[in-house]
Amino acid sequence: MSTTFQLDTATSRANPTPAPMKRLTVPKVMQRKKDGVTEEPLVMLTAYTARMAQLLDAHCDILLVGDSLGQVIYGLPSTLPVTLDMMVAHGAAVVRGSYHSLVVIDMPFGSYEASPQQAFASASRIMAETGAAAVKLEGGEAMAETVRFLSQRGIPVMGHVGLTPQAVNALGGYMARGRSEAEEARIVADGKAVADAGAFAVVVEGVVEDIAITLTRELAVPTIGIGGSAQCDGQVLVAEDMLGMFERTPRFVKRYNDLATIISDTAGEYAAEVRSRSFPGEEQVYKAK
Ligand code: KIV
Repeated sequence: MSTTFQLDTATSRANPTPAPMKRLTVPKVMQRKKDGVTEEPLVMLTAYTARMAQLLDAHCDILLVGDSLGQVIYGLPSTLPVTLDMMVAHGAAVVRGSYHSLVVIDMPFGSYEASPQQAFASASRIMAETGAAAVKLEGGEAMAETVRFLSQRGIPVMGHVGLTPQAVNALGGYMARGRSEAEEARIVADGKAVADAGAFAVVVEGVVEDIAITLTRELAVPTIGIGGSAQCDGQVLVAEDMLGMFERTPRFVKRYNDLATIISDTAGEYAAEVRSRSFPGEEQVYKAK
């Protein structure tokens, strides 16, 4: 995949923009799983801003504008207060910042659960105002009718089962799911229900590994694991977790870097130079001609 960048001088910061290429489509994502086997796992990361989308796009198959932006961007205590307006604004930014990845946008809490009609109104607004090609919604059997309603009306839906953060109050916390046989059976049934209803892929979050393996084996559509199993058809992480922006992360996160320290140290260097008047230097000031 091309990682060469062109300078787009039309923007004030001359953001390096990936050379336009054909976006991955929902059918192409589905075709990555052939006869139950995904040779090349799907790579998915969250993105909430145009700049982050630009940086991640060439490496990913799917960019998820997750409602985790509530905590990551807005400092909210959970995803529950996230609004449709927030998802639309960030979704449009991510579409503008990407050329290659399929962009999927989370439907926020309260925007789809009441009825398939409510879900259609919210999802069609998301797609019309952002240009994204798909939405994601949480829930299993209870959401199957809604997944079918949207899928049959031209709205590709990614399912999300297991630990579903919008249900944190009902679940009693963010702990891994499926430790009892009854819960395991329920999560497997949830995954099958949304896949049978037409979901083009299913996120399997925070479950004991056997559940993720069973769903990957039994669903015809790709499973995307997060705290699932390496055997899932793809993986997703919150990009800021993966980059090490947070000191505390769930067990299933691997911190590939330590951006929190890099940012803090760099801000400290800047602050010291401002205080010592060594910034701005000769190179950063304008002189009369
Ligand atoms: O909101 C989100 O970021 C998500 C992923 C973690 C799957 O739903």
